[in-house]
Amino acid sequence: MGNSATAKSLVLLTGATSGIGKHTALALAKVGYPLALVARSQDKLQQVCEEIESLHIEGAVASYFPHDLTDLAGLASLIEKIENDQGGIGVLINSAGMGYMRPLLETPLQEWQQVLDLNLTAVFALTQLVVRRMVERREGLVVNLCSISALKTFPDWGAYSASKFALLSLSRTLAQEVRTYGVRVTALCPGAVDTPLWNSLNAGFDRNQMLSAETVAQWIVQTLALPPQAVLEEAVLMPAGGAL
Ligand SMILES: NC(=O)c1ccc[n+]([C@@H]2O[C@H](COP(=O)([O-])OP(=O)(O)OC[C@H]3O[C@@H](n4cnc5c(N)ncnc54)[C@H](OP(=O)(O)O)[C@@H]3O)[C@@H](O)[C@H]2O)c1
Repeated sequence: MGNSATAKSLVLLTGATSGIGKHTALALAKVGYPLALVARSQDKLQQVCEEIESLHIEGAVASYFPHDLTDLAGLASLIEKIENDQGGIGVLINSAGMGYMRPLLETPLQEWQQVLDLNLTAVFALTQLVVRRMVERREGLVVNLCSISALKTFPDWGAYSASKFALLSLSRTLAQEVRTYGVRVTALCPGAVDTPLWNSLNAGFDRNQMLSAETVAQWIVQTLALPPQAVLEEAVLMPAGGAL
C-alpha cells in the first residue's frame, strides 16, 4: 500500500455490483479506502456494502448510490449527493460497461447506441463533472477500464471495440489536458476477464484461461498506490496462457 496523498481519498467506483468493479470495491476496502459505489441494482449495491462492513477495516466506509449512468441528466445530482454525503472525490474508477457479440452488419442501431451510451458517453459526462472539481482542488486520479479491444479489433466485437478505442482516446486526451492541474488519468486495457459479462455471450472461450477479476482488482489497487508524482498512463494485462 502506498502512502500517497490520494491513497485514502474517496473513491467513486462505477459498476461496483459485479465482476471487476465488485472485486475492486472489496480490494480497496481491504486497504482502507472510503468508497462511493454506483450501479443500477440497489440490492446488489447493498450486498457489496454489507460485505465491506463485515470486514471491519478502519477507514473503509462504503456508501451506495443506485443510478443508471446512461441517465445523463441525473449525473450532476448524483455527484452532489455523493459529495454531500462523503466529501470530495479523489479517485474516479469508471468500470461500468457492457458489450454484445454480433457482426456489424447484423447490429441493430439500438444495440450500437446502448453500448456507446454506457461505455463512452456516460463515462465522458461523469468524468467531466468529477474532473472539473478535481482540477479546482489540484489533485485527483481517474482510472478508465478500457480493454484489449481498445487496441485490437476482433470480428463480432465492432460496437464494443469502437466504444473502447474511443474511450482510450478520451483517456489520452484528458490526461494531456489536465496533467498540469495535478489530475492523473490511467487507461487500463485488460484481456479477457472471467466475470458475469460473459454469461450472456456465446463466445466459446475457456473461462478458466481468462484473468480473474481479483487479479485485475489488485492491479487497480496498485495503480492507486502510486505516489501523486507518478502516473501509470496506460497498461495492458493479458492472461499468460492464451491468446485471448
Ligand atoms: N470481462 C472482461 O473480459 C473485460 C475485459 C476488458 C475490459 N472489461 C471492461 O471492464 C469493465 C467491467 O467489466 P466486467 O466484466 O466487470 O462487467 P460485469 O461483470 O458485467 O459488470 C458490469 C457492471 O456495470 C454495471 N452497469 C451496467 N449497466 C449500467 C448502467 N446503465 N448504469 C450503471 N451501471 C451499470 C453493472 O451493475 P448493474 O447491473 O447493477 O447496473 C455491473 O456492476 C467494463 O467496462 C468492461 O468493458 C471487461
